[in-house]
Amino acid sequence: MKKITIVGTGYVGLVTGAGLSDFGNEVTCVDISKTKINDLKNGIIPIYEPGLDELILKNTNSGRLKFSTNIEHSIQNCEVVFIAVGTPEKENGEADLSSVRSVAKTIAKNITNYVVVCTKSTVPVGTGAMIVNYINQNKKNDIQFDYVSNPEFLREGSAVRDFLWPDRIVIGARTTDAYSVMEDIYKPLYRNKKPIILTNIETAEMIKYSANAFLALKISYINEVANLCEKVGADVHQVAIGMGQDGRISSKFLHPGPGFGGSCFPKDTKAFSILSEKHGISMKTIDAAIDINEVQKVRMFDKLNKLLKFNLNNKTISILGLSFKPNTDDVRESPAIYMIKMIIENNGFVNAFDPVANDAMKVQFPKINYFDSWKDCCKNADVVVIMTEWNEFRGIDLKVLKKVLKNPCILDTRNIFSINKLNEYGFIFDNVGRNNIK
Ligand code: UDX
Repeated sequence: MKKITIVGTGYVGLVTGAGLSDFGNEVTCVDISKTKINDLKNGIIPIYEPGLDELILKNTNSGRLKFSTNIEHSIQNCEVVFIAVGTPEKENGEADLSSVRSVAKTIAKNITNYVVVCTKSTVPVGTGAMIVNYINQNKKNDIQFDYVSNPEFLREGSAVRDFLWPDRIVIGARTTDAYSVMEDIYKPLYRNKKPIILTNIETAEMIKYSANAFLALKISYINEVANLCEKVGADVHQVAIGMGQDGRISSKFLHPGPGFGGSCFPKDTKAFSILSEKHGISMKTIDAAIDINEVQKVRMFDKLNKLLKFNLNNKTISILGLSFKPNTDDVRESPAIYMIKMIIENNGFVNAFDPVANDAMKVQFPKINYFDSWKDCCKNADVVVIMTEWNEFRGIDLKVLKKVLKNPCILDTRNIFSINKLNEYGFIFDNVGRNNIK
């Protein structure tokens, strides 16, 4: 078991810190934000992530997990340092590596013994080599270090489960020492015979981007199939089931919807495309996945427009679901943002409700009306639009919904309602890829 420092207490850093301490390691999570660290010391978790509070509490109580703002001291006293800072998208779509570089500099200046420097943040292929050079150039002494790329595959909303029971662990390194340090850190997973892929740094970096881009591609593919289903009278869900039975395809990530959002797919697909361009390779499939995703958001608004007979003026539109997917309060790149923006531009009124993301959306849209329940949100509305498939919405009683709405009209961008039920209760509706608009 190792003494670990994790730099960055965002969602990746926190889940990694909590998970690695649960595996028996001694972990300190550090951040430059004093408020964040103070909150964490007081048991206040800055993000909504099911199971994370409990895991943090369990491991802080056991003394294996600590929080600190003293980055230098934590680096001087650890065996492994994880870089888990943000790599936001720059205006040109590239990943912004300034935080990664700044952490690398701090590491270089504070190495006092052999240490393994490990990157968790999603970084373009070639960043590992850059960090190694950077640390070598800025080091004050000739103490050795090893570099590892250990990308994360955590889904928001199920990140704790994904960390503790991963499909695979990818470790990219150049020395056997580095592999054995990482093996020690992830010992419980080795014991459980989880697939561990030991490879070089560039391959590990490439695996992360290729996996995310492929999943995004799958979503864009099924969204395009859904659009065609609408024209030919097919049901995209049955098409997806039929396709998914083929083990080579699998039914996962074949749910059509309003387009993918979140902090990863939109950013990673763009960064992957730019990276390939830089190397003179065109990634036409990924470029198409990005374009299709943009078009999908527009298509959803067109559907709303059609349901309201191309007149949104003074209409009240209830948006149910603001986060980019259920079980998170993250609204980054959420398809709901485009929808709300277009409604406002077309002079409609927005009523909004999300079980946990109201506050996050208020930062972007402070002036729309927020509600604390779906029922209040839908009162006297002209139409209700489902943007996120929270379980709470799946359980909505359509009879009750019909009563509270001004018009029985629904745009179900996540296909959560049964078409038979919608027809039975006399709703006017549209969805994605099921060709059933009345
Ligand atoms: C993703 C990857 O799954 C994870 O491995 C990676 O490390 C980080 O990025 P995340 O962004 O949390 O995780 O969410 P994910 O569940 O992958 O969904 C991303 C987006 O795709 C959401 O907007 C979701 O609604 C959408 N999606 C997903 C679909 O529209 N259809 C699907 O079938 C699956």
